[in-house]
Amino acid sequence: MTQTRPCIGVFDSGFGGLTVLREMIRLVPDADYHYFGDTARLPYGSKSAETVSRYAVGAAHFLEQHGAEMLVIACNTASALALDSIRAGVHVPVVGVVEPGADRGADASRDKKVIVVATEATVSSHAYLKALQCRGIEAKEKACPLLVPLVEEGWIDHKITEEVARIYLEEAFSDGFQRADVLVLGCTHYPLIKPLLQRVVPQHVAIVDSAESTAAVVAQKLRVSEPGKEGKPGLQFFATDSVEKFQRLGARFLGQPIEKVQLVKLSE
Ligand code: DGL
Repeated sequence: MTQTRPCIGVFDSGFGGLTVLREMIRLVPDADYHYFGDTARLPYGSKSAETVSRYAVGAAHFLEQHGAEMLVIACNTASALALDSIRAGVHVPVVGVVEPGADRGADASRDKKVIVVATEATVSSHAYLKALQCRGIEAKEKACPLLVPLVEEGWIDHKITEEVARIYLEEAFSDGFQRADVLVLGCTHYPLIKPLLQRVVPQHVAIVDSAESTAAVVAQKLRVSEPGKEGKPGLQFFATDSVEKFQRLGARFLGQPIEKVQLVKLSE
């Protein structure tokens, strides 16, 4: 890794990983970020491990070839299903979102009972369950597939989204998990509805955002002693489908306008 300004590759299935990028920019502004959104092939959350691995490794190669000295796999599904394959396929350090999220979730739970909400594929992999169990936590995972399209629709403070979240979370906080005291957001899209989720969960529950915990790990690895102190990030965006849609939706996830996006065609 360079001692000056690091170049960090950030990968996601689409727009959601921009929530992770947003946190990284906040903590480590003095860096160059290359963000790759595989918008032509999203969602990953309903795909098999084999397919997600193939797509994610291809994107990781692209980022490495474009100068990334560290890769952040911002997509929870790709982190859960393909982290080992990605690590084996590149020559730079790779940070996923599951371990940082599990660490923060375990630290935050006094009762050692944690619920994780995520996509269907992430839940089927049990990556969060295993990571939390290793940390002495009793965990329960709950797939919330309808939340991704609702967030992409921009319904982040909508009564339909609140009702859907209520149904999922009532199921999650049941069967011995009524007293779970932490909810880990194991999907890139959920930080956008954190205020809504906070209204829906029982009052004693703390919400842990894996975007925030991952950014903290990246800052630590880069030995940023005073996170967020100074600097202006260099931002480059790559997407595999409509540039216009990436700019439009992406701005909501990143919290700032996205000026230039390069369209990329990846060979299978
Ligand atoms: N980025 C995915 C995740 O965090 C959500 C969207 C998708 O299914 O591709 O799991």
